[in-house]
Amino acid sequence: MSRARILKGAGALGAAALGAGYVQRLPKKEDHHLAWSQSMSTRLYSDFALPWILQMDPETAHTLTLRCGELVQVLHAMLPNTVPMQWLLKPGVAAPQGPSLQQRLMGLAFDSPVGIAAGFDKNALLVPLYRRGFLGLGFAEIGSVSARAAAGNAKPRCWRIPSDEVVVNAMGLNNEGAEAIAEKLRSLKVEGHQGRPVGVNIAKTHDPNILGAAAVEDFATSFRLLAPLADFVVLNVSCPNTTEGKTFEEPAALAELLGAVGRTRKALAEKVPVLVKLMATADDQAGRQTQRELLQVIEDAGFVEGLVISNTVKNPEAKLSKKGREEANAIGKGGVSGRVIHKRSVAAIRSAYQATGGRLTIIGVGGTDSAEAAYEKIRAGASLVEVYTGLVYKGPGLLEDLQTGLQRLLERDGFDSLQQDFARKVLPKWDTWLGKNLLGKKLL
Ligand SMILES: Cc1cc2nc3c(=O)[nH]c(=O)nc-3n(C[C@H](O)[C@H](O)[C@H](O)COP(=O)(O)O)c2cc1C
Repeated sequence: MSRARILKGAGALGAAALGAGYVQRLPKKEDHHLAWSQSMSTRLYSDFALPWILQMDPETAHTLTLRCGELVQVLHAMLPNTVPMQWLLKPGVAAPQGPSLQQRLMGLAFDSPVGIAAGFDKNALLVPLYRRGFLGLGFAEIGSVSARAAAGNAKPRCWRIPSDEVVVNAMGLNNEGAEAIAEKLRSLKVEGHQGRPVGVNIAKTHDPNILGAAAVEDFATSFRLLAPLADFVVLNVSCPNTTEGKTFEEPAALAELLGAVGRTRKALAEKVPVLVKLMATADDQAGRQTQRELLQVIEDAGFVEGLVISNTVKNPEAKLSKKGREEANAIGKGGVSGRVIHKRSVAAIRSAYQATGGRLTIIGVGGTDSAEAAYEKIRAGASLVEVYTGLVYKGPGLLEDLQTGLQRLLERDGFDSLQQDFARKVLPKWDTWLGKNLLGKKLL
């Protein structure tokens, strides 16, 4: 045999051994409960894409992700019924024979409880993809959008701490402004509100000079422009990255804001569901008291149908590893997101659910990076879950994993569907024995 043939054979054998070794290292279905295609996509993402992404500036990587989404949108418009497009839009998730993940909440139909959190798509770039259930997404929340366009804080304003799988952001509510986003949504509304729900998250314009009555009017302006074009509106009163600090997280200021939004909503022809996005208050007596005061105001407003819990956690308050804390201290500002805030979000969801007796629909968000984490939020009282930072570290395969994983966990625990009152069934008995919630109102 010639030398060249021997070398060729050895090369092929080596490549086959490497390939076999790689496939061998893929998580097994029994270990990680992932379908083969999911483990493959997750492993390819973490082995090949993530190291490359981590070399990039976080904002550049994010812009590139949005551009890829826009490209898929264009390709979909050109080749709607091709196999890759069908696969992207309808991966093998939420198997019809498994426990049902469908729910009807706030008058809206959710085919899947998994959605995209605010901040991912501040300028409503990928709405057609969300509407079509891209990668199995059940819904999305765009924004935050403010009445006036805002450039946000000076760069750098977004950092990753890979040791803790965390993102620290001090973006400062950069967005194109309510008028421009409304124009975009209006052009898409030709198709009507068809498809999966898309909510709009609104926040006060990031300008420290807009305070008091002007701040309330600023919010009301965004609501007036955007509510008619949204399936639901989220009032973001908990952004930790504003120069003016706390604005609407004080009960009196929140009451004033909800009063104005309530009046604006009344004047609109369509009564869109409104949710309030809260911070993850500390899991202690003082934190629960603060949350209860805000919830009382929200209940009293009479029209709020849900809560989004939670926003990012202020940098100094996030529990990080020693290395992570050193990096976070060097950054010195911003809000922390990612798996380290999961427990705190769960505690805040549970206390809000208990305080309101499950009257409000809760969207659980904060550090969801596995089906187990999503399930914990649902068991604590959330009906829906949103992800952001998990996607950075786990890749798009996470969306499929959350859905198939939730079905597996429901099946394991003997539930045949994800129902609106799911948390009530699994909460400690003493909570329902009381017969009324902690705000003194009867359980529904
Ligand atoms: C870069 C970045 C920008 C964000 N911008 C917004 C925003 O504009 N409005 C908002 O309500 N939340 C915003 N968030 C918070 C997320 O919606 C979410 O509440 C938080 O990141 C926790 O979820 P996660 O751990 O899954 O990322 C942002 C988060 C990140 C990481």
